[in-house]
Amino acid sequence: MDGSEDDVHARKMKSLGHFTQGIVHDIRNSLHVVLSASAMIGRRTEDPLILHHLTSIEKTIERTNGLIGRILAFANQSEEHLGVVDVSDSIDESITLIRPMFPECIAIEWHRPAQPVYILGDHDQLYQVMLNLLRNAIEAIGCDNEGTILVNLNHACPWVEIRVKDTGPGIAPDVIENVFTPAFTTKADGNGFGLANVFAIVEQHGGTMQVVSSPGEGAEFIMLLPLVPDMNL
Ligand SMILES: Nc1ncnc2c1ncn2[C@@H]1O[C@H](COP(=O)(O)OP(=O)(O)OP(=O)(O)O)[C@@H](O)[C@H]1O
Ligand SMILES: [Mg+2]
Repeated sequence: MDGSEDDVHARKMKSLGHFTQGIVHDIRNSLHVVLSASAMIGRRTEDPLILHHLTSIEKTIERTNGLIGRILAFANQSEEHLGVVDVSDSIDESITLIRPMFPECIAIEWHRPAQPVYILGDHDQLYQVMLNLLRNAIEAIGCDNEGTILVNLNHACPWVEIRVKDTGPGIAPDVIENVFTPAFTTKADGNGFGLANVFAIVEQHGGTMQVVSSPGEGAEFIMLLPLVPDMNL
């Protein structure tokens, strides 16, 4: 993309963000009305069947709220706040925050480099990237299986390379070509926005994202992000 195409793309993303925000606002208001009505009915009945259906309504609303949050995050990517960040710090903090949601049988290997690794980035968006990659890795390994997630960082000017590899079942060739497509999922309760989000964030950071996997041999997500020139040893 040249500069003018970049501008057009940024403008389109911005208007998509505003458009989506408006719709999401209305949907959230409507869901809130349904949720309040459901709570009110719940207080006036002891009928187990009605209470059972009310629980389904509340769970569905919770899931729908989660889904629209993801759509909003995807549409709002024009609003990044780039600054100089130590990417190893972002990874470290993400792992510390996400670690409590790992089942105990899944190990994580991550060796933080001794020196900071500076990129022009958005700390919150980098957290989103790690959250999505680690969640997918955990979901791929499964809660009842032993497994390991390896997070690796190597840098050599002008790039830092970050790899997230798991020992799950891997990705079949017909699936792998679609994993970054918005709304593509193979999971019964998936939304398919996790990796689309990751891809868009990495692109906005001027980087590239790829995945390698053979069925039975786990999956490895590899991203390259540009280093800040003259700030890295
Ligand atoms: N580590 C992995 N191992 C195997 N398959 C994976 C892995 N990561 C992603 N996938 C495949 O890529 C698909 C898309 O992933 P993505 O994160 O975009 O959506 P999702 O996990 O299905 O739903 P969600 O929106 O909740 O993240 C998954 O449904 C799965 O088939
Ligand atoms: Mg996911």
